[in-house]
Amino acid sequence: MFDDVAPKYDVVNDVLSMGQTRRWRKVVVEAMDVKAGQRVLDLAAGTGTSSEPYADAGIDVIACDFSLGMLKVGKRRRPDIDFIAGDATRLPFADNTFDASTISFGLRNVNEPKKALAEMLRVTKPGGKLVIAEFSQPVVPLWRTMYTEYLMRALPAIAVKVSSNPDAYVYLAESIRAWPDQDHLAAWLQEAGWDNVTYRNLSGGIVAVHRAVKPGAESDPAAGAKALAAHTGPVARLRRNTRPAR
Ligand SMILES: C[S@@+](CC[C@H](N)C(=O)[O-])C[C@H]1O[C@@H](n2cnc3c(N)ncnc32)[C@H](O)[C@@H]1O
Repeated sequence: MFDDVAPKYDVVNDVLSMGQTRRWRKVVVEAMDVKAGQRVLDLAAGTGTSSEPYADAGIDVIACDFSLGMLKVGKRRRPDIDFIAGDATRLPFADNTFDASTISFGLRNVNEPKKALAEMLRVTKPGGKLVIAEFSQPVVPLWRTMYTEYLMRALPAIAVKVSSNPDAYVYLAESIRAWPDQDHLAAWLQEAGWDNVTYRNLSGGIVAVHRAVKPGAESDPAAGAKALAAHTGPVARLRRNTRPAR
């Protein structure tokens, strides 16, 4: 399916999200808070749009995805980025390889998302970060109703006009509705072994950005405070999740 949508993937995204994806992506990069010289895994990177800001900042980013169609479009657009074919549930990297790992709008598409969370933990260095951007549940009931209408009715109708594979966008709407909410995903992260799990809602909860740290490194209180500050902007409501796994 991703091979089919690859050629127009980025344009269609911009149309269907009414330009919001750019803002969401900026928040992800801020939450990653990585520096030049560090090594980042961008998993389910698709055409590499989510990897570009790191490459532009001199960060050694690996864009990994299992769709050769998406990787080909990405490599054509950004030959300077390392695109690697790999399955999120069996990553082709050694333990403790990356300073930080991220996955944008991809975890929901992985057949066994809990395995992917465990794999990202394995390949991230102790003390390294994980940042996940994924569609989630709007928190205000009226907004949730309006958004559900958009997802189930308007989005498939618009996709017929702008996409080469409108069925993919019916799948998109259904997979978003079936995906766990913010707290539930935070509990999955804790279950997988990630520490300091927090999240913030964007666009009223249409998207949630989860952030976590791999345990095992000496704790650095200054780094913790800095990360917290990055999560307290005007669009952010930080929740420190301590709920047990459901
Ligand atoms: C919606 S795209 C997101 C692409 C990119 N991260 C972005 O933000 O534009 C989801 C991607 O997940 C990839 N994907 C789904 N399951 C995967 C798996 N098991 N391993 C690797 N990639 C996977 C698909 O091939 C697709 O490129």
